[in-house]
Parts: sequence; C-alpha cells; structure tokens
Amino acid sequence: GAPVQHDLSKIQSGQMVKVEWRGKPVVLLKRSDEMMAGLDKVVDKLADPDSLSSSQPVYAQNNSRSDQSSPALLVMEAVCTHLGCSPVEKLAIGPDPQMGPDSQGGFFCPCHGSKFDLAGRVYKNVPATTNMSVPPFAIADDIITIGE
Ligand code: FES
Repeated sequence: GAPVQHDLSKIQSGQMVKVEWRGKPVVLLKRSDEMMAGLDKVVDKLADPDSLSSSQPVYAQNNSRSDQSSPALLVMEAVCTHLGCSPVEKLAIGPDPQMGPDSQGGFFCPCHGSKFDLAGRVYKNVPATTNMSVPPFAIADDIITIGE
C-alpha cells in the first residue's frame, strides 16, 4: 500500500483523528499532558508494558510508544490484537463503564472486552495479549507520512 500523509497542525492537544492505511484504521492522537501522565500510572496493570511481544518500529518501543521528536503523538493501528475488531476510543480520564472507576483513558474492544491504554498497551486479564501495532511513520514540518 502507498504511504498516507496527514497534516498534524490540524489536530489539537487531546484530539484524535483516524486515517486509513493499507485498509486499516490508523489513529493519530495528540495526547495531552494529563493523558501522558496517565501512561505511567497504569504500568502495573499492563500485560506487555515494555512492548516486548508487540509490534512497533524500534523508535516507538518506549513507554509512550512514540517517536521522541513528537512524544505526545500516538500513531497506532486501531485493530484489536485478539481477533481484529476495531476498539472504541475512551479519551476521557475518570470513571468509565467499560474502562473502570479510575480510567486513565484508553481503547475498549466491544467484541470480547479487551482494554488498552492510551499508548495501545493491552491490560492484563483480557482476551488480547499483545499491544496494538504501531506502523512505521516519519514526521517532517508537521506532516506525518505513514508507511514507507
Ligand atoms: Fe477485541 Fe476479541 S477482537 S477482544
């Protein structure tokens, strides 16, 4: 599939857009400071917090699963690693019927209840066992190119 480009300057902090790449939905989420802080609070509850069993470019194998030139930006294939459903974004921090009473935001898969944090890292004790994939991407002058 051909690379896809998007203008990141149009995404506000805390906002998410979806683009399509290779027939898959790809999330572009500019995480707020509060969202970034939440990533540290959930580490103990995650199945693969260091993304050792998960798929991402080497530059995105870190706590926020982002390129360090743009650490707040999450670029992620919104495809559940259980059986491929498309999880629903839960961007609000606070009690959520699916994510729990102290949710730091994340993604919820309606098919069988897998839960992921705002870096796409999967929680323990859900059907999925690996984090959602980060595709290869590059950023130049606020334009992201997904794919190579
Ligand atoms: Fe997402 Fe089964 S496909 S939990």
